[in-house]
Amino acid sequence: MSLRGKRILVGVTGSIAAYKTATLVRLLIKSGAEVQLIATTSALDFITPLTLATLSKRPVLSAFFEKSTGQWHNHVELGLWADLFVVAPLSANTLAKFAQGSCDNLLTATYLSCRCPVLLAPAMDLDMYQHPSVRTNLEKAASYGNIVLDAETGELASGLSGQGRMMEPDRILEQVIHFFTPQQAFSGKKVLITLGPTQEALDPVRFLSNHSSGKMGFALAQAFKAAGAEVHVVAGPVALTLENQGFQVDRVTTAAEMFSAAKAVHAQMDIVIFAAAVADFRPETAAPHKIKKQGKELSLRLIPNIDLAYELGKEKKGSQFHIGFALETEDGAVNAKAKLIRKNFDVVILNSAKEVGEGFKYDTNKVQIFHKEGKVVESALLPKSQIAQLILEEVKISLGLS
Ligand code: CTP
Repeated sequence: MSLRGKRILVGVTGSIAAYKTATLVRLLIKSGAEVQLIATTSALDFITPLTLATLSKRPVLSAFFEKSTGQWHNHVELGLWADLFVVAPLSANTLAKFAQGSCDNLLTATYLSCRCPVLLAPAMDLDMYQHPSVRTNLEKAASYGNIVLDAETGELASGLSGQGRMMEPDRILEQVIHFFTPQQAFSGKKVLITLGPTQEALDPVRFLSNHSSGKMGFALAQAFKAAGAEVHVVAGPVALTLENQGFQVDRVTTAAEMFSAAKAVHAQMDIVIFAAAVADFRPETAAPHKIKKQGKELSLRLIPNIDLAYELGKEKKGSQFHIGFALETEDGAVNAKAKLIRKNFDVVILNSAKEVGEGFKYDTNKVQIFHKEGKVVESALLPKSQIAQLILEEVKISLGLS
């Protein structure tokens, strides 16, 4: 595939793997992309700006201000210019800055202000790569919506052997091409996804809620978007970067707000995924002032919230496809199938929430997928991105898409 017309920012940080960036730039240019390099000062200890500038056909930017020319490099403009930002190699130091949102050079400032997706290719020594702080930072970077490429295993510059090598430039090129290749199966389809918890106010400073992270819904949104769908997300309060991912996003707080936002667009949707953990109850009244302790018991009167899936299930047209989730701690299959019927779902996905790694808080999940026609598909314990892919494949089969 040609990358003609694609504008790619390539960030280089201080790692011996920076020499491979030259090959990556050559491959991107050969594929037709426009490439602008941004290097940290320490990256330039490993590779000369002359090499990178010659290959990319543009000067390498490193400082905010170029003393020799008096030129100011505007990180906001750079961020807006790009269709994709590839940081290769990504050092542990710059990764930590990305994870923290700290910004002390042109590369980190451009990262924070860019609106395009970011692909990260870490490179470091094997023990650094396995250090819990680095693992946490990689997870954080992924949770912000960055595409994190795994480091490869092999001989390292230190002489040790293990995982930490930057992904080879030809494989990074494949990832870039994959990113720009439209996946056709769901193109023209509109998908609505509710995700995250809802919060129901008790008073101005307290609320009832649950542990939903919204990660499963987010993984589904990414999977359907990558497969060509137009994705509309209605999200409760979650710590996920949903903006600038190519989705339409409505952020809401309560179940009532989530219902209004979902109902407003429901009729135009082809596929609706109810991934939100909507609070089933809310306090009958939210106190206008902070409830003070009075040394005695406090009773709360809770009233039921609207059930989005049930209400919108009543309005479902024959051409629409509804997917629900069921989080059960006992009699999983029986309860999930009962929900499938009661809420008029076409498919229900059961999380049993019994094993470590399943459900709300984790990046992994293990599910059973029940189709209304009786077919059941069971997954292993997998990353949520793979569970999302599995669900997508099931919907594809059900709708006869290829
Ligand atoms: N759901 C919803 N609105 C609600 C409650 C649930 O849209 N007020 C949706 C969820 O997003 C999920 C499905 O309904 O797709 C089942 O949610 P779950 O919490 O498992 O079921 P409940 O209906 O709350 O039933 P129960 O409390 O009996 O388990």
